[in-house]
Amino acid sequence: MIDQCFKKFTQLSEIVGQCSPTMLTYNGTWENHYGLNICPIPDSVWKNEPLLVKINSKFPILVGFVIKTTPNILYIWHLDGSRAASINLRFESSGHSHSLFGESDDGFNDKFVELEYEPNTFYLFNTQHKHCVINFNESRYVFSLQFVQTKDEVSYQEIYNWCNGEGLFE
Ligand SMILES: [Fe+2]
Repeated sequence: MIDQCFKKFTQLSEIVGQCSPTMLTYNGTWENHYGLNICPIPDSVWKNEPLLVKINSKFPILVGFVIKTTPNILYIWHLDGSRAASINLRFESSGHSHSLFGESDDGFNDKFVELEYEPNTFYLFNTQHKHCVINFNESRYVFSLQFVQTKDEVSYQEIYNWCNGEGLFE
């Protein structure tokens, strides 16, 4: 189930993970989008990130942004509205949180797997597999992005297969 939910990239972040979310969003505007606090960041950030430059050559990136989750929030099970997949990195300044992918088991119970973010590490994230976030008592900051192609035009599996063929995964 795990590979259908998320996959860790081998190449560590050289730019995004070295910046603080405060720095990245300094000139940005926070907006509420489906209950998420989102702030776009300058294209120059991901255009200087080697892994994202490579992926952008095949799957063009529309925008990179920071998602802020406030303390003591559970963002409920959902599929994203238009994104097939994203590439995520959790900033180190975040506190204790869980990012879970679920599958219905017997109508009462859901099975889940956890994406345990490692420092400075990007993950391909299947936003069309049921997922949720449980955030504890500090703000949580995640880098994420939107590809130009929507879920009707590209799938997680297509992006996964290409990245896998390019040797980008562990
Ligand atoms: Fe989501």
